[in-house]
Amino acid sequence: MIAFEGIDGSGKTTQAMELSKRLEEEGIPNEVVRDPGGTRLGEGVRELLLHRSDLIIRPLAEFLLFSASRAQLIEEKVTPMIQAGKTVILDRYFYSSIAYQGFGRHIPIDEIESVSRFATGGLLPDIVFLVELDLDTAMKRREDAGRQADRMEDAEIRFFKDVISGFKECARRDPGRFVIVDGSAPIVNISERIYNDVTNRIKNLAEERNAP
Ligand code: ADP
Ligand code: TYD
Repeated sequence: MIAFEGIDGSGKTTQAMELSKRLEEEGIPNEVVRDPGGTRLGEGVRELLLHRSDLIIRPLAEFLLFSASRAQLIEEKVTPMIQAGKTVILDRYFYSSIAYQGFGRHIPIDEIESVSRFATGGLLPDIVFLVELDLDTAMKRREDAGRQADRMEDAEIRFFKDVISGFKECARRDPGRFVIVDGSAPIVNISERIYNDVTNRIKNLAEERNAP
């Protein structure tokens, strides 16, 4: 289970897709799923959270909606895929809730952690790639790609600065799981680095399993 985290426009989806393609080429079955989303219910919740400008969504309700989408994703897709021996690549996970709803919207972090544990059955990724990029470049990339700001992306600069510190804090607290990636490097350089990290991690996990 591999997760990608980072601010909007940092390059997560690009890298998740690149990794999926390379693993596929090596005969490693895998699937990319997005959080929020990834299931019929989750896509409905995603629509509510990101694209319904007519709705007022308070921080706590927002967090619980992200968590509901995630709970469905884990039970309906992620757990069955892992049981079937597939590598799951997550485009965001609950670390985004810590960064956006915790650091960004000031919901207590311990509450976020405990609800997230409940929603996911405590399922943790083997590796989390935190794609770091400065806010200006990320915003420029989104504009260049012609992307309209969604409800979350409409927030002010201060909010995103807090989100960035939230991600940094997640990585600082869990250095064995997090790998920080420089999102300003060329796409191929980043994907090469990520691929090497993943194959090393898979080798290590296989050795651990085969150890007497
Ligand atoms: P995210 O999923 O984090 O929002 P995306 O992968 O959708 O980010 O990338 C946002 C935009 O930036 C896309 O147009 C993508 O092609 C471009 N992009 C992604 N990675 C890089 C990179 N390393 N260098 C330059 N442009 C990039
Ligand atoms: P998405 O399009 O998936 O991300 P990106 O813009 O990086 O391609 O949008 C999801 C949005 O929801 C994004 O702004 C981050 C936000 N979000 C939260 O606030 N909390 C969460 O728990 C998750 C998973 C996402």
